[in-house]
Amino acid sequence: MKVTVVGAGAVGASCAEYIAIKDFASEVVILDIKEGYAEGKAMDLMQTASLMGFDTKITGSTNDYAKTADSHIAVITSGIPRKPGMTREELIGINAGIVKTVSSNLLQHSPNVIIIVVSNPMDTMTYLVHKTTGLPKNRIIGMGGALDSARFKYRLAEAMEAPISDIDGMVIGGHSDTGMVPLTSHATRNSIRVSEFLSEERLQQVAEDTKVGGATLTKLLGTSAWYAPGAAVSSMVQAIACDQKKMFPCSSLLEGEYGLNDICIGVPVILGKDGIEKIVDIPLSDAEKAKMQESAAGVTKTNGLLEL
Ligand code: LAC
Repeated sequence: MKVTVVGAGAVGASCAEYIAIKDFASEVVILDIKEGYAEGKAMDLMQTASLMGFDTKITGSTNDYAKTADSHIAVITSGIPRKPGMTREELIGINAGIVKTVSSNLLQHSPNVIIIVVSNPMDTMTYLVHKTTGLPKNRIIGMGGALDSARFKYRLAEAMEAPISDIDGMVIGGHSDTGMVPLTSHATRNSIRVSEFLSEERLQQVAEDTKVGGATLTKLLGTSAWYAPGAAVSSMVQAIACDQKKMFPCSSLLEGEYGLNDICIGVPVILGKDGIEKIVDIPLSDAEKAKMQESAAGVTKTNGLLEL
C-alpha cells in the first residue's frame, strides 16, 4: 500500500509521521516544490524508524510525480495556511490553482488513486477536484469533519472533566468557523447523552469553542495547526488502506442526501478500500437541518468564487 502526501509543510509532515508510526503502509512518498525539503523531511522521519518501531519506507521528492506512481491514496496538503485573523475562505485564490495542478499531476502517474483533500478552503477545494478531474465521487474525500469531531470530543471531555475515550460525537457541515454543525444532541458519554451532564448553556459554549477550534490555534501558533489535522488524515488513510469501514464525517459530493445537491460538505460516510463506500444519511432535528442549510449556503457561495 503506497501513500503519497503532497506538501511537506507541518500538516503534510505530521500526516506522514502518523501514517508511518501506525505501520500499515509499505511506502509513504512526501512531495514538495521546495528543493530538497521533502527529501529532508523524509530522511529525518526515516531516522526515527528504529526508535519508533516502524518499517514503512518514507521517501521524499522535489516535485517529481514519477516517484508517486501507482499510489493507492494521495493526500493534498499543499497551498498556503491561514494567518491569525484570516478565514479559510480567503485562501481560495492561491490554493485553487495549486490544488488543480497537483490533482492533475497525481492522476497522470496514479490513475486509480483515492484523493484526500486537506488544503483550505477544504470543502471548495474538494468540489474543485470533482469538477476538474471527473473522478467517481467515492475517490475524492475532504478532510475536515474528522478533525472537527476530534476537537469537539476534546472540548466535551474538558467540559465534563471526563477522559476523551468516554466521549463520542460528530461535527458535520462545512469546515469553516461559521459552517460547522457540532451535533450536540447526538453526542454521548458511554452512550448517555451529554445533555445529562452539561447545561444547555455549557453545551452551546462547547459547540462555539469547537467551531473556532482552528482559529484559536492559528492565533496561538501564528499559523494553522498540524498535529490534529495530521492525525485526522492518518486515521482516514488507515481506514481506507486497511478496509476498516469506519465512519467519519468527511466532505463528500452530495446528490440529494441531506437535501443537498452539487456540493461537497461534511456528512458521515463509511471509509473502506474503495474510499467513500457509503454516505450515511442520518435524521436531523429541524434546528440541525436549518444549520446544515445555512452551512451549505456558505460553501456554495465560496464555490462560486472558483473559475471553473
Ligand atoms: C484547521 C485547518 C487544517 O482547522 O483547517 O486546523
